[in-house]
Amino acid sequence: METKPERIIIFDTTLRDGEQCPGATLNIDEKLAIAKQLARLGVDIIEAGFAFASPGDFTAVNRIAQTVGTEDGPVICSLARARYDDIRAAAEAIKPAAKGRIHTFIATSDIHLKYKLRKTRSEVLAIASEMVAYAKNFTDDVEFSPEDAGRSDPEFLYQVLERAIAAGATTVNIPDTVGYTTPSEFGAIIKGIKENVPNIDQAIISVHGHNDLGLAVANFLEAVKNGARQLECTINGIGERAGNAALEELVMGLHVRRQYFNPFLGRPADSELPLTNIDTKQIYKSSRLVSNLTGMLVQPNKAIVGTNAFAHESGIHQDGVLKNKLTYEIMDAQLIGLTDNQIVLGKHSGRNAFRSRLQELGFELTETELNKAFIRFKELGDKKKEITDWDLEAIVNDEIQQAPDLFKLELVQVFCGSSAKATATVSLRTPEGEELTDAAIGTGPVDAVYKAINRVVNVPNELVEFSVQSVTAGIDAIGEVTIRLRHEDRIFSGHSANTDIIAASAQAYVNALNRLYAKLQNKQQEQVTA
Ligand code: KIV
Ligand code: ZN
Repeated sequence: METKPERIIIFDTTLRDGEQCPGATLNIDEKLAIAKQLARLGVDIIEAGFAFASPGDFTAVNRIAQTVGTEDGPVICSLARARYDDIRAAAEAIKPAAKGRIHTFIATSDIHLKYKLRKTRSEVLAIASEMVAYAKNFTDDVEFSPEDAGRSDPEFLYQVLERAIAAGATTVNIPDTVGYTTPSEFGAIIKGIKENVPNIDQAIISVHGHNDLGLAVANFLEAVKNGARQLECTINGIGERAGNAALEELVMGLHVRRQYFNPFLGRPADSELPLTNIDTKQIYKSSRLVSNLTGMLVQPNKAIVGTNAFAHESGIHQDGVLKNKLTYEIMDAQLIGLTDNQIVLGKHSGRNAFRSRLQELGFELTETELNKAFIRFKELGDKKKEITDWDLEAIVNDEIQQAPDLFKLELVQVFCGSSAKATATVSLRTPEGEELTDAAIGTGPVDAVYKAINRVVNVPNELVEFSVQSVTAGIDAIGEVTIRLRHEDRIFSGHSANTDIIAASAQAYVNALNRLYAKLQNKQQEQVTA
């Protein structure tokens, strides 16, 4: 990667920092599906995980490196603490990628040094340069982060960065780990680094920040004005605590206001050259995929990708938009891939039409995935006359979601109404192949279904979130159900889509329970082998 890029580099950490938020845990196939979509979106670097953290993380980084890390694909990166064994694991995991990066970090704020690391500043200086030099043995592309840079003493920060660059770091990333800084302060930190780190021209300045005060995106844009050229962000802004800076907000901010930002990158204000490599038309699809697979819902008023982001409710606004869109719209919804939701297929459409529309929408399915999705499509065609792009997307995302297939939902049947007690009967096939049926009464049909499922699966859990959203308008719309449940302080999510929302609710619950059940099984296995 050139050290003076004339555009902004997008480093996506959805699969590492994003996946760190409660309940967002993804399995390997889901991570791969997201990584492929990130490549289509055009991100420059995918931080695919933290290889040393667990064998599952290692495998995920390794598979993404093999599959998505092609010559013309993104750089594949693994996080590593500034420790020999972490760096070795990261190096091994990214090996299959045509372009691989090791991202190593150590904290530099006095609070972290005193209470977390129990190390002196000179010890941290030595470790930073030793570990960057060690990582350099495996790849030329080494990124170094002084964790909690936002609260670090600037003079010490300059020294650490100088040592890291001297040891071979090609990117130095400045994290506002706790989301504490304000835009002008963060901009000043970047300016200070540019002015006081003697060898800074040998590295790219990157920024990483959390959204605890809702300032991450604003901080990054200020950083760009002061010389940052790599932005670390996540789809929908998911991540640790209040999340990370949202990719879609940064990219669209830079795009819509490019005349404002161009001069900070040494371009004429009216330059039409894109400021990032992102294919903005893939933004909406990426957002939906990440939301469906992680179970992290997007708030309706979320900038760029919220369902209300392009909706005009007030009469005055609607009138203005009808006369001229520019009155109340600063960007076209089509720019982020929100199509006019065309009606494309129907009950009689064949396999080829189905396959080619999916290809046009950017979905690459294996033959088995295509077969499964086609069956779902035909079933939907029997219930719904007109099938839109959004329906297709819901079907495919549902097929990609691969909760472990332990308990299989065979039947769900409810009896309810204004003067009836909601009663549900469910049949589930157990992981051992036995079919078990049970019934329960609940406060409503979904409650009854969940109680009946619990009687069969028998793993204590607390439902913490249940949401239904319709994919399109109309009484025959597909309903998407997302649920999150808690078991001993861990959150497990499940998602499903169906025109029958009771069936979708049951399947989403079984998906979440399967994730929980798989976790318990792994734990048991680890105890046996320990
Ligand atoms: O927030 C943070 O400081 C991080 C580092 C590991 C870059 O995620
Ligand atoms: Zn972070």
